[in-house]
Amino acid sequence: MSVVVVRPGSPLEGSVRIGGAKNSVLKLLAATVLAEGDFTIRNVPDIADVHCMADLLRAMRMTVTGPTDGVLRVHSPADLLPEAPYELVEQMRASIVVLGPLLARFGEAKVAMPGGDDFGSRPIDFHLRALELLGAEFESRHGYIHGRCDRLLGTKLLLDFPSVGATENALMAAVLAKGSTVIDNAAREPEIADLAAFLNRMGAQVLGAGTSTIEVEGVDQLFPVEHEVIPDRIEAATFLAAVGVAGGEITLEGARPDHMDMLVTKLAEMGMRISPSNDGLWAMANKRLRSVDFSTLPYPGLATDYKPLLVAMLSVADGVGIVTENLFAGRFRYVDELKRMGADIRTEAHHAIVRGSEQLSGAPVKAPDIRAGAALVVAGLKADGETIVGDAHHIDRGYEHFVDKLTSLGADVERR
Ligand code: UD1
Repeated sequence: MSVVVVRPGSPLEGSVRIGGAKNSVLKLLAATVLAEGDFTIRNVPDIADVHCMADLLRAMRMTVTGPTDGVLRVHSPADLLPEAPYELVEQMRASIVVLGPLLARFGEAKVAMPGGDDFGSRPIDFHLRALELLGAEFESRHGYIHGRCDRLLGTKLLLDFPSVGATENALMAAVLAKGSTVIDNAAREPEIADLAAFLNRMGAQVLGAGTSTIEVEGVDQLFPVEHEVIPDRIEAATFLAAVGVAGGEITLEGARPDHMDMLVTKLAEMGMRISPSNDGLWAMANKRLRSVDFSTLPYPGLATDYKPLLVAMLSVADGVGIVTENLFAGRFRYVDELKRMGADIRTEAHHAIVRGSEQLSGAPVKAPDIRAGAALVVAGLKADGETIVGDAHHIDRGYEHFVDKLTSLGADVERR
């Protein structure tokens, strides 16, 4: 079992390159189901979730090679097997986004029902409802959803909530439907706009992605393409949190400040200085940060994925911060781990009250999920002694060379 060991050290200094967005590339890979032929995807991070999605495509008889130097190649054959097996869906819930594209291209799909995870229960009712309105019929048998349809028919969809996954499933189904579809109350995340750019390059007609109303004019056929993935705003946020906690001055090459407006505003309120640089973002923290209150919301609000990082920052900031989670009620599991490090945090339903301490105390802890794992490492930068973050494989699901990048900034971190 591998662990990440962190000791407090000097302020961070230097520059790291931000990789491609995990939450974008996984959906682009699902979209390769929509057309026969050879795709090339660039700026793909070499992370466990990408390998898991590649395995899922292989299970459907696609050929996937890479990523090598950030380049992933996918061959999507004519006789694809429209099935997503439980062993893979169970490892990664994002696999559910193959449902829409499989139905759109093959008129059938058999996809394992995703279970819950460390965020709590994760329903897919919005996905299924949107696909039903487009003309699909579903049956659930032996843990699998069986979907069938003739050619999908464009329609007006109004999502109950701007769910990222449901928007993506509906979008990837609508591009091959007959006629026009409007997705209202759509999620506005930058990763949705990236998916739409990919689909448009394939020959789809999608307008308005990145806003609450997406309009799609269905086409008869799509074609394989080359595409470069947008940078990962959550990885960028992780290094911003690291410099916020450890102090110092860093540059994040390739980061897109325009995808992180709300976060940058919050971190500035806490006392960090952040500004766009030539090819990314420059950030400095030269004193102990002030506490702030924040709530997670769909984009352009503060992403729920930033929350563990911000809670780690509040744990060592000056004052009290109240954190409200509006997306995944159960997403506070890592708080118990931070408390093992001496953090003063009280949770009450979907709120956490964080009273900042000057310093935490290094301890053995366990990473419950990707971002929480990274947050525990960040907390360790301001904890006396050694913090040993177990279950580090969770961190590998979403970060490429995490320890190496932190070390290159001068952090005292190692993998054991
Ligand atoms: C995606 C991201 C995840 C991020 C989340 C919110 C990926 C791989 N994952 O997850 O990192 O934390 O967006 O920004 O891209 N809901 C329902 N029924 C549904 C679908 C969702 O009730 O059918 C609820 C969820 O329980 C949650 C909220 O809607 O409370 C938002 O979920 P959603 O945006 O769908 O998250 P994901 O797409 O699963």
